[in-house]
Amino acid sequence: MIVGVPKETAQGEKRVSLIPDGLSKLVGVSVVVEKGAGDAAGIPDSAYVEKGATIAADASSLYGQADVIIRVTPPSTAEAGMIKEGSTLISFLYPLDNLETVKILNARKVTAFAMELIPRISRAQPMDALSSQTNLGGYKAVLLAADALPRIFPMMMTAAGTISPAKVFVVGAGVAGLQAIATARRLGAVLEAYDVRPVVKEQIESLGARFAVMPVETKDAQDAGGYAKAQTQEFYQKQQKFLAERAAASDVIITTALIPGQRAPILISEEAVKGMRVGSVVVDIAAERGGNCALTEPGKTVVKYGVTIMGPLNLPSTMAPQASQLYSRNITSFLAIMIKDGSLNIDTKDDMVRGPLVINKGEIVHPATKTAIEGAPAK
Ligand code: NAI
Repeated sequence: MIVGVPKETAQGEKRVSLIPDGLSKLVGVSVVVEKGAGDAAGIPDSAYVEKGATIAADASSLYGQADVIIRVTPPSTAEAGMIKEGSTLISFLYPLDNLETVKILNARKVTAFAMELIPRISRAQPMDALSSQTNLGGYKAVLLAADALPRIFPMMMTAAGTISPAKVFVVGAGVAGLQAIATARRLGAVLEAYDVRPVVKEQIESLGARFAVMPVETKDAQDAGGYAKAQTQEFYQKQQKFLAERAAASDVIITTALIPGQRAPILISEEAVKGMRVGSVVVDIAAERGGNCALTEPGKTVVKYGVTIMGPLNLPSTMAPQASQLYSRNITSFLAIMIKDGSLNIDTKDDMVRGPLVINKGEIVHPATKTAIEGAPAK
């Protein structure tokens, strides 16, 4: 069985799905790496060759020979068309955002797994690419904010006077938000954080932040998988009012709030931005899903009412060597549970295998994708 590692082609993408050390985790299989696949992450082809891989001269040669393709980003429609019929693809896939790609893969009887759909259960932690990548994003968001803020983060007591610490408010305390809290705290800021799921209060406080309590009860905030549930419009309006008060008292807001499969909720309104001090900074890492701030322009930094609003996309790619190291571990751990005697054994009775399975040999099995493409839910 040949595992293929293509060069990522999405704009600005610097990560690679496998690092050379990852080869030792793939026992009994051959690995082919596209020429230059690791270049942007600082990994030369020779490092792969040293660990036993062979190098494919270009994408068509790689896609033509690999039985299993491992990628970071979803393939483009052109790449999906190059993947060998009947082979397997493992990648971040976001099938609902990439229906044309899914249709092509399905027509080619490719079996496709979406890394973002790996269940958040203890046994699957080493494979949890959402966590490994978002965690890095939470860290970088704070550094961007610290750099853009025309003030310093820590308190300083000097002979020339005392400087009070920056106030950082983190909205959404999942994996990214908790890392943002930890990072901002290390830089000396004073932290406050809020999440619609009350269960995170303890985690927020254990990192040294104050949990901002909204004076409206959050009912039914969390689903069985631990993800936040969408709330009513009325709730979001109350939330925006509450967050506007917190925003006015903050120098920096880091927003990370997401609802699976939906546009990110708007939590920081234009009014809230207007109420912030001139020079304040909003780093909206929910920009990938439209943004939590009404004024965010995904992929851009804008200044509105004197407030800098950043909507960075793909922060993990800006830390490509380590983001690739972690992703490589995630994807090899996932592959390793399916490799038996050098070939792929897809056991759909195993939750960890069934959960991320989007297409199984020409059949779309992910319910929402099946409905979107065929108009009927999967059985
Ligand atoms: P996410 O990226 O989907 O959302 C980020 C945060 O935004 C979440 O904490 C969510 O509650 C919050 N949020 C959503 N709507 C909001 C609103 N209106 N106002 C304020 N906050 C809002 O979440 P992430 O980081 O992927 O984590 C999801 C869950 O999975 C968490 O419970 C996390 O602890 C859990 N998890 C479990 C793991 C495991 O057991 N292996 C590994 C990683 C995460």
